Amino acid sequence: MKQRIIEVCPALPMFEYFRTDRAQVIVVVDVLRASTTICTAFDYGAEKVIPVATVEEAMDYQSKGYFVAGERGGIKLDFADAGNSPFEMMIDEIKGKTVVLTTTNGTQAIQMACGENLTVIGAFINLTILKDWLLQRSEDVLVLCAGWENLIGLEDVIFAGALAESLAQEGSFLMNSDETFMAYDLWQLAKYDIQAYISKFSHTKRLISIGQDESIEYCFKIGVSMSLPFWNNGTLQKYIF
Ligand code: MLT
Repeated sequence: MKQRIIEVCPALPMFEYFRTDRAQVIVVVDVLRASTTICTAFDYGAEKVIPVATVEEAMDYQSKGYFVAGERGGIKLDFADAGNSPFEMMIDEIKGKTVVLTTTNGTQAIQMACGENLTVIGAFINLTILKDWLLQRSEDVLVLCAGWENLIGLEDVIFAGALAESLAQEGSFLMNSDETFMAYDLWQLAKYDIQAYISKFSHTKRLISIGQDESIEYCFKIGVSMSLPFWNNGTLQKYIF
């Protein structure tokens, strides 16, 4: 059996150094909270999600009648219909609709990734379905961690470690880079008491300081989402199995 490679790009500015000619699926992750929010939007019936980089684009979509969610610095944009908490996607209003989302880092990471490669959204909540889907394919995998303002977000790195572990356990994936071993090793430290580990993250502290901590625990629930969002022609859609 051909061994596939799982690699981890721990921070956005490193992304260009991971470019390769090999066929790759890029998994964009922003555990707290954009990628969790996107999966949740699909769990609650959203038809599409359009991730946009700028506030201006989001406002433009709103003027055309779209449901717009977004934050900067974790705080809901005042004109938006919702902020960036997954709990704000648990509403009937988005059923069958397109949600436009702009966030500080997550939607920037998606914009950076979507190109010639197949791009999907990963989060702890869809880890199980994502792993099963990746195992059925043949490409290598690159996890792109959104982090915070060009720096590392530990929550994204441990997600990458959890995904690497679950893929490598199946035997068809090889970990062969320092970034992947770093993510894997950090996941070993975190996994036995993930709720305790969460308190270390600077974004956890940031969300608590602005009163946005209600969904943090949910963002680390493994496998509760049945949605695998993938990039298709300018929008994210739910993969139909
Ligand atoms: C981001 O994109 O930076 C995050 O999702 C921020 C947040 O927690 O809202």
